Amino acid sequence: MAVTTAKRPTTKQRKFQLDEKDLPTHWYNIQADLPSPLPPPLHPGTGQPIGPADLAPLFPMELIKQEVSRERWIEIPEPVRDAYKLWRPTPLIRALGLEKVLGGPARIYYKWEGVSPAGSHKPNTAVAQAYYNKQEGTKRLATETGAGQWGSALALTNAGRAALAKDPKSPGSLGLAISEAVEDAATRDDTKYSLGSVLNHVLMHQTVIGQETKKQLELAGDRPDILVGCIGGGSNFSGFAFPFVADKLTGKVKDLRVIAVEPMAAPSITKGRYVYDFGDEAMMTPLVKMHTLGHSFMPAPIHAGGLRYHGMAPAVSALYEQKLIEAVAVHQRPTFEAAVMFARAEGYLPAPESAHAIRVVIDEALRCKESGEAKTIAFNLSGHGHFDLGAYERYMNGELEDYEYPAEKVREALADLPKVAV
Ligand SMILES: Cc1ncc(COP(=O)(O)O)c(C=O)c1O
Repeated sequence: MAVTTAKRPTTKQRKFQLDEKDLPTHWYNIQADLPSPLPPPLHPGTGQPIGPADLAPLFPMELIKQEVSRERWIEIPEPVRDAYKLWRPTPLIRALGLEKVLGGPARIYYKWEGVSPAGSHKPNTAVAQAYYNKQEGTKRLATETGAGQWGSALALTNAGRAALAKDPKSPGSLGLAISEAVEDAATRDDTKYSLGSVLNHVLMHQTVIGQETKKQLELAGDRPDILVGCIGGGSNFSGFAFPFVADKLTGKVKDLRVIAVEPMAAPSITKGRYVYDFGDEAMMTPLVKMHTLGHSFMPAPIHAGGLRYHGMAPAVSALYEQKLIEAVAVHQRPTFEAAVMFARAEGYLPAPESAHAIRVVIDEALRCKESGEAKTIAFNLSGHGHFDLGAYERYMNGELEDYEYPAEKVREALADLPKVAV
């Protein structure tokens, strides 16, 4: 039973908006509340815990400090809050259209991150990372992308050339893209590396999402029974869910279910192992303890490009190990089916990544219909699908296939795991 006693809504209000003055002033750092500290990142060469000096060629010092901080709240610099105001606070929308189509008693809300300039949650950390880099004099940033555009870069870096030598038709992976970006940053004095997910500071920057959602659900007079988010490296899920998980960790809330959804084609939590592994293909990054399919994992070219990663954020992995969150893997076709149902009912076209969360929201709402329970389900709609119309077209033409990552491939990739003493 939750200790919170918020009333349940009786009205059919659709949108819950906050003012600019309600924009969070601090990021929430879950490391302050974890029952035990996260296992330390290890040096890729020595296998020993790394220190700030090891990370200095890649990241500005302020972000290195945030990465290891155990302070609960970290103030958002004024210029970053000003930039956030371009699109934040983002709306929380009650999915009245979807509720009607599904026809059960569940109430469904989505936090809409697709209104940012990039069309997803990513700028919540990109702006912050760019800010700290500029403060410390960085002239150039290198990063990876999961959406498949790294083909041109593949021919340029040593990591990319090595991958092509092994397999001239290599479709690439997020792990390989990270190797290339790290190589670029580490070999140039004017360049640092910016990562879009996985790291603690990235997850923390995203917590503006969940903090706003909490206030908006209060405005709605509701409280969540189930929270859902998709996971690639874990950043949008964490940003949305961690401010609520905080209440579980501190004992304020007991019966909240928090579900992370991954693709069957890259099932790092549900099929991977919780061990130390490299964050990238070419074994250049520090070793972190996480759920991993092995750094040599080459995913099938499924259409949720942002979810094709072999590992998972260490903080998300730790919460899963401690049974504070759940994880579910879903197939590509039922995911697109859910996305199309959502678009028809709500008008917004979701990113294929976000559609993984929608699949599970619909399944949970249908379970409520069967049991007659009027649960409140909230999910993070991490981005729009306007860049993914080709994938929708292929789905509509019946050209998409389901792909389950084979167990023996997982075993093969896990055989390449680094040996560490910890
Ligand atoms: C719209 C969208 N959602 C989710 C993700 C997955 O990343 P993460 O798990 O870090 O949120 C991506 C990554 O590219 C994305 O573009």
